[in-house]
Amino acid sequence: MILSQIAQQINPSPTLKLNAKAAVLRQAGEPVIHLGGGEPKSKASPDAINATIAHLETGEIRYAAVGGIPELKQAIIDYTEQHYHRLVEPANVIASSGAKQALMVGLQAILNPQDEVIFPVPYWVSYPEMVKLAYGVPVPVTPAGGSLYPTIQDIEKKVTANTKVILINSPNNPSGVVYPTGVIADLVDFCEKREIFLIMDDIYHQLVFDGQKAPSGYEFTKKSVDESKLLVINGVSKLYAMTGFRLGWAIGNRELIAAMTRIQAHQTSGSSILAQKGAIGALTGDQSCVRALRSTLETHRDILLAELAEIPNLKVQKPEGTFYSFVDFRAYEADSRQLSDFLIENVLVLAVPGVDFGMDGYLRLSFCGSEADIREGIRRIRWALDPNQTEPLTIGNRQVVKTW
Ligand SMILES: Cc1ncc(COP(=O)(O)O)c(C=O)c1O
Repeated sequence: MILSQIAQQINPSPTLKLNAKAAVLRQAGEPVIHLGGGEPKSKASPDAINATIAHLETGEIRYAAVGGIPELKQAIIDYTEQHYHRLVEPANVIASSGAKQALMVGLQAILNPQDEVIFPVPYWVSYPEMVKLAYGVPVPVTPAGGSLYPTIQDIEKKVTANTKVILINSPNNPSGVVYPTGVIADLVDFCEKREIFLIMDDIYHQLVFDGQKAPSGYEFTKKSVDESKLLVINGVSKLYAMTGFRLGWAIGNRELIAAMTRIQAHQTSGSSILAQKGAIGALTGDQSCVRALRSTLETHRDILLAELAEIPNLKVQKPEGTFYSFVDFRAYEADSRQLSDFLIENVLVLAVPGVDFGMDGYLRLSFCGSEADIREGIRRIRWALDPNQTEPLTIGNRQVVKTW
C-alpha cells in the first residue's frame, strides 16, 4: 500500500504513545507512576458540566455554527477583554475542536508549500508535525547558551525570505518557562516590522505561579487586531480541566479568521455543540476552579522541586507556570529516549524524553498528577540512578533488585 508522502512523514505523538503505554501497564495491574501526563487531574469545571447536561437534555444535538455559536463567541470576547484588555468582535474569533485544531487551521490558512515556521526549542511535540501537515517547513531554533527561551537574536539567525510564521508557546510546554517581557516585546516588534505572522499559543496563560502573569502579545502590538498578524491561541482544556471536551479558540484579524473558518467548515464543521455549551459554562461560570487548579499545581511544583533536589547533579530550572518541568539528566544519561525506556522498564516511571521536544539529555516531568505520585515517582528515579544504592526497592508488593 502506498500512502501519501505526508502520511509517511508524520510521526506518532510521543506523549499520546506514552499515555497508551501507561494504560496498558495499568490494565495489567502494574503500579505505574505516570509523570508524562499532559492534563490536570481535577474534575472539569462544574459550570461546564451543568451547561452540557442542560443542553444534552433538550435532545436538540445538532450541527452548530462552524466558527462557534454567537453565545460562545461572546464568552470568548468577554474573556479576551478581561484577560488581554482587548475588545475584539465576533469576526475576530474562531472556536475549534481544541487549541490544536485552532492552530492547525491557522497554519493551513497562512502557509504555502515550503513556507517556513520558526519555533524555539524546546517546543511542544506537535508543532513540527502540524507544520508539515500544512505543507510548511518546521524550523526549530535552539536558544544560545543552554537557555530554555530564545532571544530575538537567536530567532533572527533563522529568518529567511521564506519565513512566514514565528510560533511561540509561553508558559511553555515542556519547560514551564514563562518567556520574559523583553522577549515578547522584541518578538512582536520584529514580526510587525518584517510582516511575519506571530502565533502565540497561550493555552497555559492562566497557569502561572508566584503571583506572576505571562506577558501577552497585545501589550506590545502597535496595531489593531484587524491590522495585526498576531494570532492568539487559547482554550478550556488545561485551565478548566476540560481536555476531553475538545474546545479551543483563536483570536486574529478577520480576514485570517474567515479563512480558518472556511477550512474548518470542510474538516469538522466546527466543534460539537455540547463542547461549545460546556465552554460557555466554564467561561461565564465560577472561576474559582482555575484559581484552585493554579494553587494546587504551585504546591505540586514545590513538592517536585524539593524531591528533585535530593538527586545530585540534576540541572533543574524552577517552572514558572504550566505543570511541567524540564530536567537536565545529562549527568546520568545523554540519550533521553534510552533513559525514559530504562525508567519504565526498571521502576515503572513514565517520563517523556527531551529529544521529542527537540532537546536531548532532558526528561519532561509533569506535576499534574497526585502529590503521592510525584513523591513516589521521584523516589523510584532517585533509587534507579543512585550508583551507591544497592538495597532492593519496594514497588507495590514486589521487590526490585538492581541488575545495573
Ligand atoms: C502547548 C500546547 N498547545 C496546545 C495544546 C492542545 O490543547 P487542546 O487540548 O486545546 O487541543 C497542548 C496540549 O497538550 C499544548 O501543550
